[in-house]
Amino acid sequence: MNTATFQTAPAAASSTPAVHAPERYNLYLDIHKALRSFMCDTLCRVGRLDVYDADEFAATLGQLDSLLTLCQSHIQHENDFLHSAIEARVPAGSARTAGDHEDHFESIAMLRAEAAALAAAVPAERGMRALRLYRHLALFVAENFEHMQIEETVNASTLWAHYSDAELHAIHERILASIAPQEHLLVARWLVPALSPAERAGMFGAMKTQMPPEALLGVLMHVRPHLDASGWTKLARVVGVTLDPAAAPEPVPAP
Ligand SMILES: [Fe+2]
Repeated sequence: MNTATFQTAPAAASSTPAVHAPERYNLYLDIHKALRSFMCDTLCRVGRLDVYDADEFAATLGQLDSLLTLCQSHIQHENDFLHSAIEARVPAGSARTAGDHEDHFESIAMLRAEAAALAAAVPAERGMRALRLYRHLALFVAENFEHMQIEETVNASTLWAHYSDAELHAIHERILASIAPQEHLLVARWLVPALSPAERAGMFGAMKTQMPPEALLGVLMHVRPHLDASGWTKLARVVGVTLDPAAAPEPVPAP
């Protein structure tokens, strides 16, 4: 693992943006922000886990299970929609990240086995097993961070070179249509707090034109406990919600 260099798109890619220029539509960006946030939070929870607190023990392993399930689903979405799009116009163009995905499936299975062993361990063994799980989860997160950088630069540049933004938006719509409502809510819980206020405004502005008001309010209430007061005030202003930001509850350790 080389952490001293930054992976960027190939210099020959004519669509590679200059640093100061806005990128074209990047299919990977939002979901990767959600995953980075979910991974960091879960890793820290496993690291500080009190293995003798039954409620915390169950909640932390539950969150880890939720994270690993979302990671599996995310890999499948990328294989089915993004890698297939790359391969359709650049044969073998997704080979590198497709190989990563196979490794990630194996890592997820290993982490699930370690989590199950921790859950079943006698109290005297829990500390050792929790530390082992924490270290291996950290390596999984590190690998995923490098992998996502490749996807957001190299794979995104390949897509930009061979697809219009309209085509990329159409692919994104097909991905969204394939996802179950519960996964949408889980992603929203991690995605919305991970976005900048301007990105949140763009996301909810689009949702406002596509969803019934009560459904939009449901999403807002779902994510509100996870936003700080400043973030909630800015979002509520953009969406036109008049709830008192001072009444926003303290963040809770969902999902
Ligand atoms: Fe990926």
